[in-house]
Amino acid sequence: MKIAIIGASGYAGGELIRLLACHSAAKVVCATSRTLAGTPLDQIHPHLKGFTDLKFENPAVDAIDADVAFLAVPHTAAMTYAGKLLSRGIRVIDLSADYRLPQEVFEKVYGVPHTDYFCAPYGIPEIHRKEIIGAKFTANPGCFPTGATLAAAPLAKLAHTIIFDSKTGVSGAGDNPSATTHYPNVGDNVGPYKLTTHRHLAEMMQEMACLGSEADVYFTPHLIPVNRGILTTAHILLNEPLGQKEVEKLYQDYFKGEYFIRYQKPILAAVRGSNFCDIMVESEGSRIVAISAIDNLVKGASGQAIQNMNLMCGFGEKDGLKGAGILP
Ligand SMILES: NC(=O)c1ccc[n+]([C@@H]2O[C@H](COP(=O)([O-])OP(=O)(O)OC[C@H]3O[C@@H](n4cnc5c(N)ncnc54)[C@H](OP(=O)(O)O)[C@@H]3O)[C@@H](O)[C@H]2O)c1
Repeated sequence: MKIAIIGASGYAGGELIRLLACHSAAKVVCATSRTLAGTPLDQIHPHLKGFTDLKFENPAVDAIDADVAFLAVPHTAAMTYAGKLLSRGIRVIDLSADYRLPQEVFEKVYGVPHTDYFCAPYGIPEIHRKEIIGAKFTANPGCFPTGATLAAAPLAKLAHTIIFDSKTGVSGAGDNPSATTHYPNVGDNVGPYKLTTHRHLAEMMQEMACLGSEADVYFTPHLIPVNRGILTTAHILLNEPLGQKEVEKLYQDYFKGEYFIRYQKPILAAVRGSNFCDIMVESEGSRIVAISAIDNLVKGASGQAIQNMNLMCGFGEKDGLKGAGILP
């Protein structure tokens, strides 16, 4: 299976190459970067030395020769690739926001016109597996919406209000430095941002509604001084109170058989580098606190994208994703 990674010099692209190196059937044959064409991959991703001898290239879309393409590029860039690759029979997994929302919602939230819109399954396999199996194209979800949706899914229908409070590592912002991600501003600090207006709220609302919830949904993110990981605390306010045993059973039944969901106290380090989402819940009667931890670059991006590729192409769902987290 020939794989092309569009945007291979970024964090998500690098993570795709790292994980695919352990896939039984996938071989990365094309890794793009507009600015680094001709540079060996391992100069930018030194941890991958010995795993690939590819150089970055900058091919025209029509010259990309692959069975599957991952789009690990910013939003609005992905829409210039997706349709063209699909029309040549190449399966596509888009890690950007371009196909996660209906067109009018996307245009409102991102403030730009969509130039090549079509519908795609929303790639959280634990919720949308049936639509993803065999699909030619999947929209990989945002990192915050992945952790938030999984934390609240089993209770979505029973809630009238859901408040997501997330802490994220700095790699969520990509490899382009900014004042926000400058070390003295991030280190030894915790910073709330986009208190009520983060774009990922739209995906969370969409997923809660899709799960049959009529709840009001709120979201506030915080930047913390770690490289990877998102810890989300979901305050789920129920229409009717539920006891601890009932809530735990609900979660265990909902995620029964889901390899990548582990019911245990979520800590970022335990999922770092892995595709796992650790979840626990505690009941206070009519308020349930559900906490999830994921690695934003793995279950929140590249790992989940490979999980989606596996379902789309008929590979084992865990292929390339069997690694444990890295603790400490
Ligand atoms: N970081 C995360 O935790 C995370 C989680 C979930 C989803 N995502 C999404 O995944 C995508 C990639 O994120 P990232 O963090 O890896 O970003 P990044 O580190 O900034 O990397 C972006 C990559 O895209 C390429 N690129 C930029 N503009 C392009 C364009 N117009 N056409 C073609 N290639 C272009 C860049 O290389 P050149 O500029 O050299 O071409 C680079 O390889 C984004 O849409 C992001 O929202 C990221």
